[in-house]
Amino acid sequence: MKASMDRQGIEKLIAEMTLKEKVWQLTMLSGELVQTGPASAPVTSDAIQNGEVGSLLNLVGPDRIRDAQRHAVEGSRLKIPLFFSLDVLYGLRTMFPVPFGESAAFDPVLWEATARVAAEECAVEGIDLTFAPMIDVARDPRWGRTIEGPGEDPLVGQRIAQAKVRGYQTADLAAPTAIAATAKHLAGYGAVRAGREYTSVDMSERLLHEVYLPPFKAAVEAGVACIMPAFVDLNGTPMSIHIQILRRLVRESWGFDGVMVSDWSSVAELLVHGVAADPAEAAALALNAGVDIDMMGKGAYYDGLPEALDRGLVTMATIDEAVRRVLHLKLRLGLFDNPYRRCGSPEAVAAVGAQAARRALAREAARKSIVLLTNIESTLPFKKDLKSIAIVGPFSDLKGDASKPDAAQRMSAFVDHFKAALPKTAISMTAGSDVELPTENGLEAARQDAQKGDVIVLCLGETIAMAGEASSRGYPGLPQVQQDLARAVFDSGKPVVVLLFSGRPLILPDWLAARAKAILAVWHPGSEGAAAIVDVLSGAYNPSGRLSMSWPTDVGQIPIFFAERPTGRPRLESEHFSSKYLDIPNDPRFEFGHGLSYANFFMTNPRATKWKIAPGETAEILVDVKNTGAVAGEHTVFLFIRDVVSSITRPYLELKDFTKVELAPGEMKTVRFKLSADQLRFLGPDLKPLLEPGTFNIFVGPSANPSKLQMLELRVHPAQSAVARAQI
Ligand code: GLC
Repeated sequence: MKASMDRQGIEKLIAEMTLKEKVWQLTMLSGELVQTGPASAPVTSDAIQNGEVGSLLNLVGPDRIRDAQRHAVEGSRLKIPLFFSLDVLYGLRTMFPVPFGESAAFDPVLWEATARVAAEECAVEGIDLTFAPMIDVARDPRWGRTIEGPGEDPLVGQRIAQAKVRGYQTADLAAPTAIAATAKHLAGYGAVRAGREYTSVDMSERLLHEVYLPPFKAAVEAGVACIMPAFVDLNGTPMSIHIQILRRLVRESWGFDGVMVSDWSSVAELLVHGVAADPAEAAALALNAGVDIDMMGKGAYYDGLPEALDRGLVTMATIDEAVRRVLHLKLRLGLFDNPYRRCGSPEAVAAVGAQAARRALAREAARKSIVLLTNIESTLPFKKDLKSIAIVGPFSDLKGDASKPDAAQRMSAFVDHFKAALPKTAISMTAGSDVELPTENGLEAARQDAQKGDVIVLCLGETIAMAGEASSRGYPGLPQVQQDLARAVFDSGKPVVVLLFSGRPLILPDWLAARAKAILAVWHPGSEGAAAIVDVLSGAYNPSGRLSMSWPTDVGQIPIFFAERPTGRPRLESEHFSSKYLDIPNDPRFEFGHGLSYANFFMTNPRATKWKIAPGETAEILVDVKNTGAVAGEHTVFLFIRDVVSSITRPYLELKDFTKVELAPGEMKTVRFKLSADQLRFLGPDLKPLLEPGTFNIFVGPSANPSKLQMLELRVHPAQSAVARAQI
């Protein structure tokens, strides 16, 4: 019986490995099924048999994975198992809302639960590691990868990071359904210049440490197994070689001892960045910075590391350090003991996929992610006696999840759900146009269909492919053909409810926002999206989603976010010399945290258990919330602070917590937040955490809209002896 591998065994293994075998352990190559980067030749079974690769990505299907693993553990000299990785950001078989949409739920329990289900589906189909969560804060919706991330605020990014790492990894990576998570893309990727994909990023150290790094620190504190540096050049240094961040900060200061995996060919791309003259230099710079695995590394580690060693650009000790971390990851994943542990049988795969609970969770996640942006004259929810609904638009024929292996599992279409929810209502449906192109007679068909409906549900937006990587949009709005369709439908004179399918806030024409009776952001809602949308429109579910990103009124406002620092000349309509535009408003169309309900929530009596605290102490902030509406609902309450006078300017609002409260009609509950002196610290002139005595304005409210916030004051007094304090 082979003794199970342990850390001593790893040391022995490293001692046996040739240089080539070490370099191959640091190389990750792509399987043949999906390409998520510039096209490349997929790995061959001979190469695996030869031990020429340490891990694979984008190989899908337990049979294929089992086969590849067999080549490695039975064919290669040292029989080191591979690990298998894939981008699973919002589900593998059961699809949840895209991550940006799910962030609108403001629900860490949900965020963890959907990651857990995704991990269970991965762990029975041979996937050991996911390249998720993506925790790049984004404040520029022109950037397509907004769809993958947490929105504009670092605290939300931190909470998502923690929840997702727990969900994917559980407490033990060797647990049967645990998979390794990857915090990506470190760091600042969401701030690409002008929102254009892959451009360089320039930002102050302050902004980097206040906004873009915190989610990654939270992921490390949650025990994330892997980190992926971003493609981008940050302030002149490509992240793949950013030794100050990767090694000094993340490894040495934060204590991260997991694996760093480069993004697709980003090490080889150092030659294109112009910071390396040849593959050996590129490989040395990345390895010395702390990057262990070179994804798609044919052009860098695979070819360049041996030469880098010969030229003295790296040491064998540094190579061994990287190999050690990769082998430790495989050890933690239980792959030495059982390389096939996640390759489930067809029956096991079917059993996991068939669980009704996962579809129920997908429906819950989609419901909670939908944001009711406007609802004029309570157009929604639809009345049960509504005679007819015309569903119009290129997203109207919304079916369940196309990845379902058979139609029986695929969620019935939108129309079926409407019929089930509103049996007395006649339902018609027509596309009216394609997403970006007109269709023959499409407009006319839409006009006719609109006449049939007492109300029109107009389904507009961008496809998933119009967002995501390499999909920046200079004008992230509605394609002209959809605007033409909307005008045609509005001209029918019927009440129109607009559903926006997108991976980001979309710039809306003022006339559309004004003419719609209701607007909902439904994002890309996943397998059970059709059902969830009808649940909201029919009133079976009272919408509770809130925006995790400010929704620009105009593309000219971008980047726009609530936590901006003060200006000495705040906007004054009466003052020419004040901070405003001549041609567009300052305010977003919808602010961070915006989201309506069919209930009516009233907040009152904000108060604190202490109005003075010393360093190290904590106050409780309380506020009463009452549902004065006629239906039950879930309300999200935000806690912001403003440091009124400080040695470094502080944002008008800093988000410090959020929580949800469920209220029946007429019910009132007290929402409580703990607020410690520590949470009132900021990064001082030396970028070190600093707590300054003084007054803090504490705000509670339903969003970052200043007019909706209730304020109380909290004082921090200088650290004094208990006796002196007692005399205050
Ligand atoms: C892509 C993405 C990254 C992804 C990787 C593997 O280029 O930038 O997020 O995890 O390649 O698919």
